[in-house]
Amino acid sequence: MTSIVYVLNGPNLNLLGQREPDVYGHETLADVEAACRETGRDLGLDIRFHQSNAEHQLVDWIQQARGEAAAIVINPAAFTHTSVAILDALNAFDGAVIEVHISNVHKREAFRHHSYVSGRADAVIAGCGTQGYLLALQRAAKLVTA
Ligand code: DQA
Repeated sequence: MTSIVYVLNGPNLNLLGQREPDVYGHETLADVEAACRETGRDLGLDIRFHQSNAEHQLVDWIQQARGEAAAIVINPAAFTHTSVAILDALNAFDGAVIEVHISNVHKREAFRHHSYVSGRADAVIAGCGTQGYLLALQRAAKLVTA
């Protein structure tokens, strides 16, 4: 049976490729989605890829993943550092959770060093660029078949 994996992206990631390319690179979110789908196919994962600028929408997708998805790969973007609501939603999800950051948040401003999501995540990947999403899917595949 194919495992469903949600890949969720938070605010401003729709601007990937245009937004601070020195920090986030030149790839667009569509490029990331295509790469995730290709890697997902290779790993036997059914990818559900979403992006929203709205916290409630991310919470709704996490709730939707309950009972449906085996894992969630999430780049909560700025909500990483602010959102108890996203942490609570992830705490209500039973599968694997992998947190991804394109940049190395620990090398940046102090306010980016704390993540609410890391308190729930099974793994955290930061500073690997958009390749981090593909590494997260590899880890998710390992965890869901373990
Ligand atoms: C980010 C890092 C966050 O601090 C920032 O707010 C983002 C993107 C990253 O992928 O490196 O929007 O999550």
